[in-house]
Amino acid sequence: MTGSVDVAALDDLVDGEGTAFELDGRRVSVVRLGDRVYVVGDTCSHEKVSLSGGIVDEDACTIECPKHGSEFDLRTGEALTLPAIRPIPTYAARVLDGRVLIDVGAENDHTSPPEVSP
Ligand code: FES
Repeated sequence: MTGSVDVAALDDLVDGEGTAFELDGRRVSVVRLGDRVYVVGDTCSHEKVSLSGGIVDEDACTIECPKHGSEFDLRTGEALTLPAIRPIPTYAARVLDGRVLIDVGAENDHTSPPEVSP
């Protein structure tokens, strides 16, 4: 599936919190920071825990796993603190006419192997 999926009105999302949605068979967390939204995979890469209940740091643009406290960058999905070491997927999203649109098929799941120089 590709294209944009309308998941919610921006005003229905609590500012500074993540909200879980089912998207094309995957659970994602949509995090609102003012007029911006970030969408990441909702499952922590350390254990199968929902990140949507985690603390969001607006200045650092991170979400903290509620179980062991690993922080993930909302822009890149990178695991910034232990115990998680693997990134979480990120999804392109935008706000259009007050609606939150997620681009499906544009997931960055970080599974491509890194380029290796000879
Ligand atoms: S389950 Fe998320 S850091 Fe352990």
